[in-house]
Amino acid sequence: MATLVVIDEGSAQSKATFKSAEGNIVTRVVPSRIAEQAKVDINGYAESAYFTEEGGEYTVNGDFDDIIRTNIPSYQISEANRALVHETLRQSGFGGHSVRVAVTLPMSQFFSRVKGSPINQKLISSKKRNVLGGIKSAAGHSLAEIIDCKVYPEGIPALFDTIRDDSGELKPGFEDAMKILVVDIGGTTTDVSVVTPNGTIESYDSFQTGVLMVAERFSELAAPEFGLKRIPRAMAEEALKTGKLKNIEVKNLIEKATRNVMQTILRELEAMVSTPTLLDRVLIVGGGAALMGQDLAEAMGVEALIPEQPDMAISRGIYKLETIKSNM
Ligand SMILES: Nc1ncnc2c1ncn2[C@@H]1O[C@H](COP(=O)(O)OP(=O)(O)OP(=O)(O)O)[C@@H](O)[C@H]1O
Ligand SMILES: [Mg+2]
Repeated sequence: MATLVVIDEGSAQSKATFKSAEGNIVTRVVPSRIAEQAKVDINGYAESAYFTEEGGEYTVNGDFDDIIRTNIPSYQISEANRALVHETLRQSGFGGHSVRVAVTLPMSQFFSRVKGSPINQKLISSKKRNVLGGIKSAAGHSLAEIIDCKVYPEGIPALFDTIRDDSGELKPGFEDAMKILVVDIGGTTTDVSVVTPNGTIESYDSFQTGVLMVAERFSELAAPEFGLKRIPRAMAEEALKTGKLKNIEVKNLIEKATRNVMQTILRELEAMVSTPTLLDRVLIVGGGAALMGQDLAEAMGVEALIPEQPDMAISRGIYKLETIKSNM
């Protein structure tokens, strides 16, 4: 049977979870940086350059200045998104193999606020069709053959990753009647939902702020200190992860750069949940959880669960859900 590869292709990075040939669950990250051009290097077309059946040209994963926007709704059903999915599969070693994929849509797009049709079926079908669309590697690599595509919402699957074991049972300390606040701090969006362990959504909201805004602010603050005109996004993101820029400690600058985004998230959370201490658990995921999850929890006056590699939580959670389903 074709291998399942879960790809949570967010606006900042594409996160894949799959089983290796040795049977281990592995994860892989590819930055969501896509230029609308088939780039050329000394060997010819770049390894990650693509031609789509519609006639489009894209190159993924470079440190380009001319990257397209990945945080607008039309991106979700774009040829650029298809190129990123294939590049993630290629880098994960699935070139020339048959795969089933599961991809994600931001919560605000997956769910509709229309009474009677809570799920945005039309957009989900378009996304599936787009992922299954035709594409070729410009450099002549064999690509994965995607034989099926499922679409999941972002956010909620992270809960399954954290509170259920591999057979789908609730881990000790969790009960069906609990209400859990899930905060997913991504690159450009922060999704907040109150969910029960079986996935029933009590409420949710989504707002446009995230780690890429911190990265931008960090670039503005750090560029003059380092005598640079600007700091490329890839470098700024790396600095946020490592706490260093050009091998120099920049924790203070990162803290300063994080402040505004954290305040925005705090205000939005306050508007949504007036008494966070009444919630049974608070789960903070997404790359932003690694950056500011602990400070956020402190400021809210709650204890929060922050999983390891919190940016992978949704991808891992969907993998777990799919595995549990196929064993039922
Ligand atoms: N340990 C870390 N420390 C600091 N930043 C991190 C860490 N891990 C990941 N990040 C950064 O967090 C950001 C958000 O990552 P994430 O994968 O959650 O975003 P996304 O899902 O692509 O975005 P969105 O959900 O908004 O579409 C990325 O810019 C990533 O570089
Ligand atoms: Mg995300």
